[in-house]
Order: sequence, then C-alpha cells, then structure tokens
Amino acid sequence: MNHDHSLDELHQRIAALRRDLHAHPELAFSEARTSDAVAAALTRLGIEVHRGLAKTGVVGRLRMGSGEGPAIGLRADMDALPLEELNSFPHRSRHEGRMHACGHDGHTAMLLGAAEVLAARREGGPNGIVHFIFQPAEEHEGGGRVMVEEGLFERFPMERVFGLHNWPGLPAGRFAVMAGPIMAGTDRFDITITGRGGHAAMPHQARDTVLAGAALVQSLQSLVSRSADPLEPAVVSVTRFHAGHADNVLPETAELGGTTRAFDPETQEMLATGMRRICQGIELAHGVEIRLQYRRGYPPTINDAGATQLCREAAAEVSGGEQALVAAKPSMGAEDFAYLSNVVPGCYVWLGNGPGEGGCMLHSPHYDFNDAVIPTGIRYWVRLAEKALTP
Ligand code: NI
Repeated sequence: MNHDHSLDELHQRIAALRRDLHAHPELAFSEARTSDAVAAALTRLGIEVHRGLAKTGVVGRLRMGSGEGPAIGLRADMDALPLEELNSFPHRSRHEGRMHACGHDGHTAMLLGAAEVLAARREGGPNGIVHFIFQPAEEHEGGGRVMVEEGLFERFPMERVFGLHNWPGLPAGRFAVMAGPIMAGTDRFDITITGRGGHAAMPHQARDTVLAGAALVQSLQSLVSRSADPLEPAVVSVTRFHAGHADNVLPETAELGGTTRAFDPETQEMLATGMRRICQGIELAHGVEIRLQYRRGYPPTINDAGATQLCREAAAEVSGGEQALVAAKPSMGAEDFAYLSNVVPGCYVWLGNGPGEGGCMLHSPHYDFNDAVIPTGIRYWVRLAEKALTP
C-alpha cells in the first residue's frame, strides 16, 4: 500500500483533536465546546454548517461535484458520560464526574477527519451531497430522536444514513457489519406495590408486599420463557427491589424497576402488555395494589440490507478484504441511531477497538478510545461516502 504522508499528518492531527475532546467531556445537550469545535472545523473546510438542531447538534452539508446525485448522512455522537475517569494519562478528563467512556470523542474526531478528506475531493469525484451529522446526547437522552423531531430529514433530505461505534473486544481496526438487527430496543419500568404493613409475627393481618414482589419478579421471567417466540431474543431484567427496614416489620410498600430488551417490535409490544397482565394477576393473587409505569426507550436498530451491503464493501476494502470482517452477534445494548435509521434506510457498524480486557469495555472508568484505529475509521467513512454517491 502506498504511504501517504499527507494522510499521516491528518491522522496525527485528528488523534490530537480526539485527545483534546477526551480531556473536555460534555454531557447530553451540553456539548457546547465540542459543538463549537466541530462547527469551526467544518467551516474551515468550506463545508456549509447548520447549528441548533437538538440544541448542540451540528450538520455539515458538503456538495460533491455538481451536487446532483444521491444524498447521504454520516453520523457521529458527541456526548460523554456522568462517570469519574480513573485513567492517569495526560489527556484524562479535566472535569470531575464526566468522562468520554464510550469513545464518542473518537467518533466525532474520525468523522471530522473524513469530512476533511471528502472536502478535498469535492471536485472530480462522484456527484451528490454528504451530510455530516454530529448529534448530542446519544446516552439515554435520545439526542438523535430530538434531531429527527426538529426536522433533520425535512431540512436535509437524504436517502441513506450511516453510523459507526467503536467496539472493545473486536480486533483493533476490523469491522463487524451485519444486516438486520444489531442493537436492541430498550424500555424501562417502575413498579410500586402497595399492601398493608404490619407485624412480621402476624402476617395474616398484613398484605405482604415483599412476597408479592418476589412472586412478581419470578412471574415476569415467564414472559421471556413462555410468551416470547423462542427464536426472538427478549430480556426482562428486574434490577431494583427496595422494601422494608426492620426484621420484624412487613413493609407497606415495595418498589421495583428494571429494563426490557428486544429486537422485534412485536416482541417489545408483547413485553409491555404482558407485564401489565402479570401485574394485574399478582394484584388479585396477593390482595395488593400494583402501579406499573412502563416507559418506551430507544427502538431497535435494524440495518437495511442495501445500506449494509455498501458498508460491508467499504469496510472490507479498508481493513484487509472480506476475510478481515468479523462475524459478530448483535448486542442487547441500545443505540439512538435507531431513530435515524427508522426514518431512512441505514446501517450501523462496529469498528474494533482492540482487546476488551483490563477495564477497557465501554462505560468503564478505565476505558480509552484507541487512536490506532483512526486511520481505518477515516478511510472507511470516505470509501463509504464515495460508494454511496456512485450510481
Ligand atoms: Ni456509545
């Protein structure tokens, strides 16, 4: 392969930018400094910049050639996590309780690198429009959803949208690309059980919320084992169960909560209605009152077959051919890219971040984005955009 010194120089600059973003993490919808840096970089490249979608969101619009051709979107996320960084390297977070522990610093930096390469090639290549979408609040808050609600696709019509996430545990610089479901839909629930508190020695005078809660936790698992199609993945996790303070008191109330996950929208719907039904049954059986609050979260991320084929080709070309692609299983984690790819066909891929051991998994206080994968990430975005714009 040719050694290109101008690209070496770009990679070093992008790695420096990545470490600067890492040192200055910002939380959901507060990505002001990051958003400023992104807008300034795009402006310097002569790319049309649009700000204000979802507060801190930035869209760069690049006309390639005549501009008359396909329009696509490449998306990166900008937000950090409310987490105390435990790394000690020079670019560690300068802000207590905030950390780029999911590698969104790397995603943002790589997409800016790709914007630079594509801007330099805007004449003489394929014709069309590339949108660089920098979204806030990927973690929990659904910044992607807000951008869509505020008119992302009306203001910037596009035929396809693409996303990328680094993935610890996959070999560095290698891709996992899969058609169909890749990330699960996720909902959350809160349950309050109200019975009648009383003396632990006289249970017949009380309505025991602990026993009702225990029965509820067990029964909820039947949704996965008996109500869900065995060929459709589903998860119900009760992660909180708080009740009582004393050895000799049956508590008046118990509070439970957790999350459900599924790929198939019908399965997700079944979990919601099934949970309601089981709560009603436990109410009757135990003579208690149960209040269920079921909150919809991110929809499942489903990769479109045509978009996935383009990603597969681009990933193979920049990472050592078809045989270098990693066969991975989908994750029951969630991703708000789904709000974008629910509107226009899209594909979301994983780029290996290297070994996941030693606290390097996503959301670990020891995590760091692997700068060695930056060149591959940039080449991938560039190759993908050129392919998607070529009729
Ligand atoms: Ni992330």
